Amino acid sequence: MSDLDRRKFLSRAWKGGAALLAVAGTWTSWDLLRPGLAAGFGTQVTAVSPDAVPADTVIEIPQARAYLTKVNDEVVALSEICPHLACRVPFCESSGWFECPCHGSKFDRAGDYMEGPSPRGMDRYAVEVVDGVVVIDTSEKIKGSDLGTRVIDEPPKGPHCTEGEA
Ligand code: FES
Repeated sequence: MSDLDRRKFLSRAWKGGAALLAVAGTWTSWDLLRPGLAAGFGTQVTAVSPDAVPADTVIEIPQARAYLTKVNDEVVALSEICPHLACRVPFCESSGWFECPCHGSKFDRAGDYMEGPSPRGMDRYAVEVVDGVVVIDTSEKIKGSDLGTRVIDEPPKGPHCTEGEA
C-alpha cells in the first residue's frame, strides 16, 4: 500500500469513526431527552394499580425512569440510574437482581447493594397511592441504603447477566 493510499484509508477511517460517535451521541441524547420520556420525569408520575406491582420481580415505569416492586408488602420505587456513575441499571430476570452493565455493580430486588463499585444501594423515589393508583414522586431522589443493608434475603435465582467489576 502506498503512502497516499494509507493516508486516504486512515482519513476515511477517522471520518467513519467520528460519524459513528456523532450518531451514538445523538441517539443517546435523544433516548434521554425524548418528549415521551421526559414528559413525566421530575414530577408526579402516575403508574399502575398497587395490585399490578409484583412481589417477586419488578416492573419498569419508563416515564419515571424507575422500577416498581413490593418489599414486605410495601410498594417501592427504585431509580434506574446507578449510584456509581449514573448508567442505567437493567433488571436481570435470570438472577432476579439489578445488574449494572458499566462496572458490574449488583443490587438485589429491593435495591440493596450486593457487589461492585457502587457506594450505596439504588436510590428511591417516594410513592403514594392516589385513587387506587401508585404515584411516583420523581422530583426528588431518596438516597439508597448503606452498604451492608439487607431488607430481603434473595440470593441470585440463576445466572447473572453481567460479569463483576470491569
Ligand atoms: S455506573 Fe453502575 S457500576 Fe459504574
